[in-house]
Amino acid sequence: MNPPSGNAPAAPIRAVDVIRKTRDHQELSTAEIGSLVEGYTRGEIPDYQAAAWLMAAVIRGLTRAETAALTDAMLRSGEVLDLSDFSASKVDKHSTGGVGDKTSLVLAPVAAAGGLIVPMISGRGLGHTGGTLDKLESIPGFNVNLPVAEFRRVLHACGCCMIGQTAEIAPADRKLYALRDVTSTVESPYLICASIMSKKLAEGIDALVLDVKTGSGAFMKKEEDAVFLAELMAETGQRMGKKVVALITDMDQPLGLKVGNSLEVAEVIDVLRGQGPADLRELCLELAAWMFLLGGKASTLPEGKQTAEQLINSGKALARFRQMVELQGGDVRAIDDPARLPHAQHTLDVASPRSGYVSAIHCEAIGTACVILGGGREKKEDTVDPAVGIVLRKKVGDAVTAGDPLCTIHHNSDSRSARARQLIEASYQIADRPPSAARPLVHRVINRSGEEI
Ligand code: URA
Repeated sequence: MNPPSGNAPAAPIRAVDVIRKTRDHQELSTAEIGSLVEGYTRGEIPDYQAAAWLMAAVIRGLTRAETAALTDAMLRSGEVLDLSDFSASKVDKHSTGGVGDKTSLVLAPVAAAGGLIVPMISGRGLGHTGGTLDKLESIPGFNVNLPVAEFRRVLHACGCCMIGQTAEIAPADRKLYALRDVTSTVESPYLICASIMSKKLAEGIDALVLDVKTGSGAFMKKEEDAVFLAELMAETGQRMGKKVVALITDMDQPLGLKVGNSLEVAEVIDVLRGQGPADLRELCLELAAWMFLLGGKASTLPEGKQTAEQLINSGKALARFRQMVELQGGDVRAIDDPARLPHAQHTLDVASPRSGYVSAIHCEAIGTACVILGGGREKKEDTVDPAVGIVLRKKVGDAVTAGDPLCTIHHNSDSRSARARQLIEASYQIADRPPSAARPLVHRVINRSGEEI
């Protein structure tokens, strides 16, 4: 075939050809990626073609140039907020997804109470992991779908605001995220990087703390894969002139004791009241310290941690959370009295089959059990049950006697709880001796230029 002559019109970019190229290991051009993202966002490319491309991208991977083009196209699908009218530093935190990972709900008010501006755009449950938006929506009336003008108004009033991707901000991620959730196309460092960084770069922030999870409940199960993802995101942030730090943190068992939307909000309130499980509290303090350091509110990490502790112990962080909830339409009576949060009709204990020590908990299985209970989605059209979930009574290293409850299932359906119970039973490993060494909460820190600190 002859090459097209100089005057021939450029051949149209067809989704079917883009899918084939990715499948066949050919690199896509920036124009091809832009056309795919724009076409899907506008509704011209159907779900089945976008899903086929996502699956090809998961299986064959993307090049650095393709990842950059995808991130840019997703970022350009909506507007980039200009928050230059705020004099304080704009700093956010984002996690790559975990089980029982509710730190965003603690960190936004802590950081705002410490003088930072936190314009947080989050996501819903993804795969087996929980989503900040689903958690927030378990607070009756809480609105995560604010237009930009309202988002800015809340930010001006209380320094933090937590919303989802909208038709105005990161609309491409809004659609692709929901599609990836139900098509097993989450576990790709390239797609995760584009999804997270397109949202975060649209926020108009100065600095970003990334919490990159590793372990059996993370999308990146192996530490080297988590480090690769952290470097990819740090590089992307740096390219766009942002200060970025990535903490590789442990997700080999659920964080805290509660998994499930309203259960997790109750645990957030415990932490903001100066209580709550030690691992969750510790990770929140560590991430808050980095936010204060990058935002210029602390000159060392210990100082940042101390600031966060004081803001929690004085009640200022909880007051800020309450204010944000009220400004976003939520019923603050549920914050003052978490017993008013939705709760499930039934509970069911899962008993230990033998005596010994908990040596491991397969964390992804706990997350999947929560999805099965109705706490997440198996299909796009599923509605989430805010009340269901799992309360862990034993964690790794704890001694157990045969018959002791390992955890309690909170459910609204006997058939769903029976399926969840099977998974949970298989996820707990009981051994004669406790594990020799506890895994650290923070495995390592990668700085903004992709170097380990
Ligand atoms: N969080 C996101 O926002 N996107 C992903 O792809 C994974 C975690």
